[in-house]
Amino acid sequence: MQLALSSWPEVKTYLSRSTGIVVPIGSTEQHGPNGLLGTDALCPEIIAREAGDAAGFLVAPTFNVGNAQHHLGFPGSITLRPSTMIAAMQDWIGSLARHGFTEIYFLNGHGGNIAPVTTAFSEYYAPWSLRGEPCPVTLKLRNWWELPGVMALCRDIFPVGEGQHATASEVSVTYYGYPDAQKRVEMTPKIAPVGGFTDAANYRDTFPDGRIGSDPSQATPEKGARIVAKARDAMVAEVAAFFSSPSRSGADG
Ligand code: NI
Repeated sequence: MQLALSSWPEVKTYLSRSTGIVVPIGSTEQHGPNGLLGTDALCPEIIAREAGDAAGFLVAPTFNVGNAQHHLGFPGSITLRPSTMIAAMQDWIGSLARHGFTEIYFLNGHGGNIAPVTTAFSEYYAPWSLRGEPCPVTLKLRNWWELPGVMALCRDIFPVGEGQHATASEVSVTYYGYPDAQKRVEMTPKIAPVGGFTDAANYRDTFPDGRIGSDPSQATPEKGARIVAKARDAMVAEVAAFFSSPSRSGADG
């Protein structure tokens, strides 16, 4: 069930049976020569929608631009400053909380979002803590690749060249979701370099085609389908447990 395809009476009815909602959260940033700019937003969106359809929970619109300042050396990348992202998340959470959502599960697709998302959670909790009142909302962050069993499957499918950015598995997930957007590109070197980075200029110098440690030319829709099925099933179980335990026992982040 998608929020964007629901009417307000339908959301009202949903709230009478569940106060939980899933928010896919990602980034719009370069993903190497054959990866889609939307990869980090599309992966959690594809997985969350399949899980939501399977289990009947509500999926919010995707928070699809995140902290990607280091990717701005490549055309098409869009970033929020971390402070902007944290502020925007307060308004998303506050809006959902106003309607009575009390368990909000963020399925994340971008490593660069982890620090701002966890800071946004602390920012949301802080006024309640300072007033000495319990916050009625519980927030949870889950990176899709850390859903139980997913990383092991990705390593099994891609024993070589999975990498750290523009990974073979994330490109496969998007090719599964959008097979018409597949791109076949020869890449040199076959496996990209690894290392750290600072700003956009440093990133572009260090990783000239955008990839880190990966060979995403291995990506196929069929491999993506296997990854999405594993992630969907793990997410259904995790979200069901989180939504049914508003005592905060399922919270982290
Ligand atoms: Ni990515």
